[in-house]
Amino acid sequence: MLKQQAEPEQVRNGKAAAKRAASSDPLRIGRTPLHFFVVAMLFFAGAAAAMPFVTPAIAEFFYQPAPLALTHTITLGWITAVVMGVMCRYVPALTRRPIQFPRAAIVQLVIYAIGVSGIVAHFAIGVWFGIWLAAIVLIVAIVIFAVNMFSCLWPRVGDGVAETGMFLAVCFLLLAGSLGFTLALDKSYDFLGGNVLTNLASHVHLAAVGWVTMVIVAVSYRMLPAFLLPKVTLPRDAIWHIYALAAAVLGLAFTLLLGLRGAPVWAILIVLAMVSYVETIARMVVSRRMPLDWTTRHALAGLCWLGVSAVLGIILSFTGGRSETGARIASAYGFAGLLGFISNFIIGMSYQLFAGFVARARAGQGWMAVTIAELSKPRPRPFVFVAFNGGLAIAVAGLLAGWVPAAIAGAAAIGVAGLVYAGVTLWTLSFAYRRAVPRAAKNELRVVPS
Ligand code: HEM
Repeated sequence: MLKQQAEPEQVRNGKAAAKRAASSDPLRIGRTPLHFFVVAMLFFAGAAAAMPFVTPAIAEFFYQPAPLALTHTITLGWITAVVMGVMCRYVPALTRRPIQFPRAAIVQLVIYAIGVSGIVAHFAIGVWFGIWLAAIVLIVAIVIFAVNMFSCLWPRVGDGVAETGMFLAVCFLLLAGSLGFTLALDKSYDFLGGNVLTNLASHVHLAAVGWVTMVIVAVSYRMLPAFLLPKVTLPRDAIWHIYALAAAVLGLAFTLLLGLRGAPVWAILIVLAMVSYVETIARMVVSRRMPLDWTTRHALAGLCWLGVSAVLGIILSFTGGRSETGARIASAYGFAGLLGFISNFIIGMSYQLFAGFVARARAGQGWMAVTIAELSKPRPRPFVFVAFNGGLAIAVAGLLAGWVPAAIAGAAAIGVAGLVYAGVTLWTLSFAYRRAVPRAAKNELRVVPS
């Protein structure tokens, strides 16, 4: 145990100064992002554990209670919670404007966690009344989040690429959530026309492409030049990728919702916008030596899965999800997009960001400083990468081929990788909540971080 009294006076004064500086910084958001990450990790661990048990139902038909519950544990519990945490930290820093209601962000997280648990539980038991009630709770949480983000982002919309993309992404989250609520309400009161599966596809694309993909594009456009390639400036036309993506998602969503023809045209436009994005990033990265660490590997794997999702998405826009082949493609598309593309990006990014957030949070508390390396456990990373992506490849192939045992085996590998990753990440995050330091920081000869 470290004893506070044993510290020299200079060290104590330094810590007090760091704490004062941190608390007087108006852009500081304290440990709020970390609370979001902890909630996200718990949902991810739950999803990972459930994955092999739900996969037989997914292989049978994707539109069922258990797959719907698993999908929202991943999309809302894991993906959206991480993105919200990252945005709480980066939006004020990027725009140089403090979050307007920082305390409301904590209230938002509590309401959000209740809403996600409610919607997942009611999807699992197939009770629509509970699903739309939980959706209302979720929408309240998303509105609070949007108010805090819009107050920072709005003045930069149209100028900053990342700010414009994040602003539009939050608008899409609101749209997707409202449509999800309406679809659920319709199951109780039957007032919407149209086809259940195309209505569903409209919601899925507003959420997965409009919200999550847009935010990944926007944040990576900002992070890559800022953190990895400081000498590179973002080309001005990058903002047009954001506008094109937004227009294509809106076009696809309305085409599906209104039962119009032309879904493949919008699907191809989405793919073209994403190709321009990948090409811009590739141009920036090519010729610079990026370290091939586990973050880069997950990002590259994510890009490969983005390619697989693009191919499956275009095929699906022709076949629809109703036929047996269409349903198989839809399930594989969900795995490739939500786990292969989006989750790979988040896992890779978390290796860079989370330990840094924890180190800063400890400084804010005036606790003993620890380095990012001391807060990280790199040893399981190769296993997580191989089991996650190998499992995914087997699961996607199994779903496409209709070979259920292979799909289950792949899902089990993804599940084990997910549980290992969540366990290790929670270990890192735990140091934001306790004074204790990791064992690596107890070495007497360590270089003390300033
Ligand atoms: C407040 C937020 C959300 C609400 C209220 C909501 C609600 C719903 C509802 C009610 C359905 C079933 C629709 C029907 O039966 O017609 C559904 C399906 C679906 N949603 Fe969401 N959703 C939300 C957010 C998201 C997000 C953020 C994503 C993805 C990033 C997403 C992805 C999906 C997918 C993939 C399905 C189809 C799953 C399947 O058929 O197995 N949802 N959602």
